[in-house]
Amino acid sequence: MSQLTDIAWDDFRKLSLQEKGPYFRLHGHEGHVIIAQQFDRERLDSLGLLATRIRRIAKTRNGMEFLQGLLSHKRAMLYFSQPSTRTFLSFLAACEILGLKLGEVRDTSISSEFKGESQEDSIRSFSSYFDLIVMRCKIGGLAERMAWLLSNSERPVPIVNAGSGKDQHPTQAVLDIYTLQRSFENSGGIDGKRIVFVGDLLRGRTVRSLSHLLTQYRDVEQVFVAPAQLQVAEDIQFMLKTAGINFTLTDDFRSQLPSADAIYMTRVQDEWDAQKGESGKVDISRFCLGVDELALMNDSAVVMHPLPRREEISTAVDRDPRAVYWRQMRNGMWVRAAMIATIFETHEKIMEWAGI
Ligand code: CP
Repeated sequence: MSQLTDIAWDDFRKLSLQEKGPYFRLHGHEGHVIIAQQFDRERLDSLGLLATRIRRIAKTRNGMEFLQGLLSHKRAMLYFSQPSTRTFLSFLAACEILGLKLGEVRDTSISSEFKGESQEDSIRSFSSYFDLIVMRCKIGGLAERMAWLLSNSERPVPIVNAGSGKDQHPTQAVLDIYTLQRSFENSGGIDGKRIVFVGDLLRGRTVRSLSHLLTQYRDVEQVFVAPAQLQVAEDIQFMLKTAGINFTLTDDFRSQLPSADAIYMTRVQDEWDAQKGESGKVDISRFCLGVDELALMNDSAVVMHPLPRREEISTAVDRDPRAVYWRQMRNGMWVRAAMIATIFETHEKIMEWAGI
């Protein structure tokens, strides 16, 4: 069994993402959530079942009291040094559902990072006070470095990557899979579906993580619709080719609408512009979804978006039953609760609870 305690950092960091995956397990001694490559289909299925179970139990006072008693002896630190609404709040809510006590650092100008403390030392300090660290940061790879570092420390506290750099957003990808599972539960599941990604696919970490998770499903076709400057990166294309996945790159959005089972919209991620304002020069008007584009879609197709959105989805689309992005956002809370419950090995108690 691959263990972070058995490998030096210099050897670990040189591994491919596929090779790193088995080092991160959801529960037990190395219970970290770091990269999409650590999830297989069996795990995605069990997280989906657990999320649904938690969602149903939480509907009653009795059920909520049961859930809130499960981890009332644990504390979680939410360390978000990059802006967030949904991920931060859904983790906060998920922790509260399971009874964890919470601490947070969101503004590093009032933590000791302002005095020059490294992020590594800051996170290591959190491990002295908390039993779980959920972190978002703009440095790609920092979450996996911290997972290795803490696993090799006297305080092997689990790390959950809530978005790192432009590279990974694994918990978003798992909640996206849960949304697809729910959307297609009466039409054969995710297998065989055509998923169309639209927008800034070069810098969208949610797309990168979800594209990988979709390779776990049979005969799923992935379509990447973007202006040439924002098309999905070569490493994702290489990953898909290696996995034998049928995929297409195009800049013709409208032609993809009639055959799509899911449209996954994304915004332009201009916070990553090398030169301020350079994304503003890209014409994205052909990569927006309004009522005219909805009219070209199948009745059974769904529209997703990790949010926040800008102009790429018209608010008029919100009223259409195919728009599932608000549900997708709520799913995040249940999936994150399922992950935390699994990390602390309370998942079996939840599945066995006889109160509903
Ligand atoms: N989807 C997502 O990561 O949203 P936030 O940036 O608001 O957390």
